[in-house]
Amino acid sequence: MGSVRRFNVRLGIGYRSSLAAAERADIVVTIDVLRCSSSIVTALANGANAVMPVVSLREARSLARAHDAILAGERKGIKPAGFDLGNSPLEFKKATVQGRTIVLTTTSGTKAIVLGKKARNLLVGSLLNLNATAKLASRLARSSKSGISLITAGTSGKFSLEDFLCAGALSDLLAQEGGRLDDGCIASAYAYRGVRSGLCSAIGEGLHAEYLKSIDLVDDVMFSTQENLFDIAAVLRTDRVVAVKP
Ligand code: MLT
Repeated sequence: MGSVRRFNVRLGIGYRSSLAAAERADIVVTIDVLRCSSSIVTALANGANAVMPVVSLREARSLARAHDAILAGERKGIKPAGFDLGNSPLEFKKATVQGRTIVLTTTSGTKAIVLGKKARNLLVGSLLNLNATAKLASRLARSSKSGISLITAGTSGKFSLEDFLCAGALSDLLAQEGGRLDDGCIASAYAYRGVRSGLCSAIGEGLHAEYLKSIDLVDDVMFSTQENLFDIAAVLRTDRVVAVKP
C-alpha cells in the first residue's frame, strides 16, 4: 500500500449494531438495500433537499407537518395511512421530490440511521451508490484516522442477504483504498464476488425480496439491485441526510 494510510473496516449485522459503531467513533455506513437506503439515495439523486429519518409513525407525522415535508415510509412494506409516499425508490421521482424535504420512517433502515446519529460521520450506502460511498468513506476514515463500520440493517434487525452482498461490494472497494477487512467483511466480499454477475437474481432469492415480490413490488427489487446508478454519497448532517459529491 506504500504510504497510503490504512484503516479498519468492520461488519455489523442488524440495525442495532449502528449504535456501538457510532460509540467507537467509526465512520458508519448504514445499508438497507431493500429498500430504505435505495429510496434515500434515489430521492437525493432526484433533487430532494434532504431526507429526515425517524423511527416512529407519530414522529414522522408531526415532523412532516412542522417542515412542510413529504411524509414517506412503510410498515410491513406498505404505505401507512395518510402518508404521501411509501418506501419504494420508484416513487421518489424528480417531479415529486425536487427541492423538497422528505420525512421517512421505515422498519429497520431509518432505525439504523437514527441509532448511529452520534457517529463522527454517517453515510447511507446502497448498491445504487457504491463507488461514491466507498470513495467518501475511505477519505473520511483516512483524514480522521478512524475505522469504518458497514452496518447491514437487515430485515426487522435480522441478517439479510441483500445487505450482506452490498457490504461485500463496499468491502472490495474499501480494500482497494487501503481498508483492512475483518472476517465478516471478507466473507461478504467472497459472497458478493460469487454472485455479482447475477446480483438481482441472487438477491431475489432472499426472504425480504420474496416478500416484496408477494406484495407486487418486484420492480423495487430490480431497481435497487443496480450498481452505481448515482454518483452521490448520502451523508447525515445532524437530523437530515443530504447529497454530497464524493
Ligand atoms: C426497512 O427499513 O426495513 C425496509 O426498507 C423495509 C422495506 O420497505 O422494504
